[in-house]
This record gives sequence, structure tokens and C-alpha cells, in this order.
Amino acid sequence: MRIVLGVAGGIAAYKAVLLLRLLREQGHDVRVVPTRAALEFVGRPTWEALSGQPVTTDVFEDVDQVAHVAIGQGADLVVVAPATADLLARAASGRADDLLTATLLVTRAPALLAPAMHTEMWEHPATVANVAVLRSRGVHVLDPASGRLTGSDTGPGRLPEPEDVAAAALALVRRQDLADRHVVVSAGGTREPLDPVRFLGNRSSGRQGVALATAARARGARVTLVAANLTVPAPAGVDVVPVETAAQLGDAVRAAAKDADAVVMAAAVADFRPLNPVGTKIKKSAGGAPPTIELVETEDVLASLARKRVREPQVVVGFAAETGDESGTVLEHGRAKAVRKGADLLVVNAVGEGLGFGTSDNDVTILDAAGDVVASASGSKVAVADAVWDAVAARLTSPA
Ligand code: CTP
Repeated sequence: MRIVLGVAGGIAAYKAVLLLRLLREQGHDVRVVPTRAALEFVGRPTWEALSGQPVTTDVFEDVDQVAHVAIGQGADLVVVAPATADLLARAASGRADDLLTATLLVTRAPALLAPAMHTEMWEHPATVANVAVLRSRGVHVLDPASGRLTGSDTGPGRLPEPEDVAAAALALVRRQDLADRHVVVSAGGTREPLDPVRFLGNRSSGRQGVALATAARARGARVTLVAANLTVPAPAGVDVVPVETAAQLGDAVRAAAKDADAVVMAAAVADFRPLNPVGTKIKKSAGGAPPTIELVETEDVLASLARKRVREPQVVVGFAAETGDESGTVLEHGRAKAVRKGADLLVVNAVGEGLGFGTSDNDVTILDAAGDVVASASGSKVAVADAVWDAVAARLTSPA
């Protein structure tokens, strides 16, 4: 998507740098249009380096490219963060005295303004009136967050966190194709206790599951996130059910699945657990041989959900992290697993050096229950999440 990121001259301009990074990481093409005052806070090289695009502030620069018209016409979304009191006033009165205000007049794309200023300025009748005018014209103006401002003062006026600005902006252009749907996502990695202090676990961070939950929320779904030992924060606006073990995860997923339209098993669930976890810490000091730990298989939550449906229709999705070996390629292993598990969709990704676990990028192929390729996606875990929901949404509207 082509996004224009307008930056007005406020101290919160430094947060727009993080917003720019976030939008770029999600694969968007971002053209930064700062005001002249914004460049007093964060310089042109920062914007150019991080956006990979030239940065101009005035309508008299790059005149041959008619930038004051072309940038607005080409945008799919315009975000202004921070929007100062002055920027709101100029936008409300239809001024076009720099590239950013000209772009706001030209564009027909959805626009989100994220104000940041001192409380007195935000509450001034002039600003209140300007915000009302902009909102009446269909411009989305966020309410600023409350908290610490530039100095020691606190109150409404802070720029919301970059993640929240990005989510609000992207929600304006995202299809609400999961509205009125309930989806369940399992995320993270289970831990099976050996004794009160030790467990058998895995390296899953939960990032992919969190990205799935975030993306489903943005597409309008009610989301239950069954969270097993996440190392990343759960997103806002989803119901989080914390679990520890494979058994707890199975119970939580099954309970939530009863009225769910889709269940996505992104968690790394233990295949085995210690048969007899002991209630006291296993001691070395007792001497003798190291303990032998007997393992038993855990329930395969995905396979049992797929085989014994708790609700019809319901789209059941599994994930498979595979490595190629002498017995088959990543895709061949994925195909065999798709057939074995019986899930409607299986998202296969290759793991190994620098791929998969703990990283933010992924390359996946989505298979159906017969092992046939439905889609493939690469890029950030957010991009992968959207590809998964595309496939789920397609199933929900026309079941296979
Ligand atoms: N899964 C599950 N319950 C388990 C193990 C795995 O629900 N006890 C789910 C995972 O959440 C994932 C899918 O099954 O969606 C695939 O997990 P994976 O570990 O690749 O499958 P396994 O059947 O354990 O296959 P392998 O023999 O390759 O380990």
C-alpha cells in the first residue's frame, strides 16, 4: 500500500520515526512529507534513509514532478503524526501553503490525523472547533493519549504509541471481512513440568500467533488468544486466556472453539510430557545415576479438533514448521502432515538457520486438507497472518 506519512513540527516527531519503521516493516511504501518545522525536530536524512524515498516540504521543490498533486493522488492512505494545533488549523481552513497541507487537499484517500500538543492547546476552543470541522468532513482525528508531556506537565496531548497509530490508520483501509466472526488463535510454546522449577519447553516466542490475533482484530473479528508463555506482549482488544501446558492449551482451545468460526493453531505444542512430574525439586545431591525421565504423548489438539468438530462450519488451521531431509522436502513433509492432521488448512514454513523461530520474517505455503497449495506468502509475520486470514475468509464465504 502507498502511504503518505505527514509529520508536523512537534517534539513527538521522534515517535513518527518509529511509526515509519513499523509501516515499512509491514511492507508498505511510505512517502514522508514533513513540514518545515518538523525538520527542526528530526532531519531529512533520517526520513529519507528509513523511507528510501526523497523528502520534500515545499510545493516549489520537485516542481517538474508536480509533487503537490502527485503525492496526494497516488496515496492509498494518509497519516499525519504528530498533527500540531497549527497543522489542524491549516487543514481545517483548507490552506495549501506547504506540501503536506496541499497533499491533504488533493488526496481522496482516507486520512488519519494523530494530534499531539500541550493540554491547553488541545482544549482551546479554536482547536476543538478545528477538530470538529475536520471530523465533519470525514477526516479521522484520533484523541490524543493522556500522560507525560514534553516538560513535567501531564494531561491529554500525548501522541498515542506508534503501534496504536498504525493500527488505527490501517483499520481505515482494511477490509472488515471477519466482522461478526469469532476466531481462536493459539500462540507461544507450551511448558511441561518435570518438577516445580523445571520444564520441557521450546523456543516459540508467540510472535506469529500475536500477529494473527492482531490481524484478525483489525479485520473485525472477535478474537480469543490462547497464550502459552508468550515472550511478546499480547495485542490490545483481544480476549487472552493464559495457559502453560499442552493439556491446559487443549482445554482452553476446545472451550473457546465451541462458538468459533475459525481456530488457528499457531502454538508450538509439546508432543510429549514427563509421565510423572515430581512435586519437589529433583536433587543432584542424593548421588547415584542421573534420573531417567519417562515421557508420554500429549493429545494432538489440532488433529482432534479437525477430526471431531465441536462446531460446523468451522475452519481449522494448523501450522507446520518443517526442515527438509533425506526422506523429503519441506513441502513433501507438509503435504503428508496436511493429510495426516485433517485440518482444513495447513501453513507450512521452513525452519533452520535464520528462518522461522524468533525471527520476524517468514516464508510460508498454505495447503488444504488434500495437501494442495492454496496460497503462499512471504515477508513479515503480519503479512503471513493476513495471507492466512485471506484463506480463512475465503473458506468462510464459500466452504470447500
Ligand atoms: N499441535 C497440536 N497438538 C500437539 C502438537 C502439535 O495441536 N500435541 C499442532 C500445532 O499447534 C501445529 C500443528 O499441530 O498447528 C503441527 O505441529 P507439529 O509439531 O509440526 O506436528 P507434529 O504432529 O508434532 O509433527 P512432527 O512429527 O513433525 O513433530
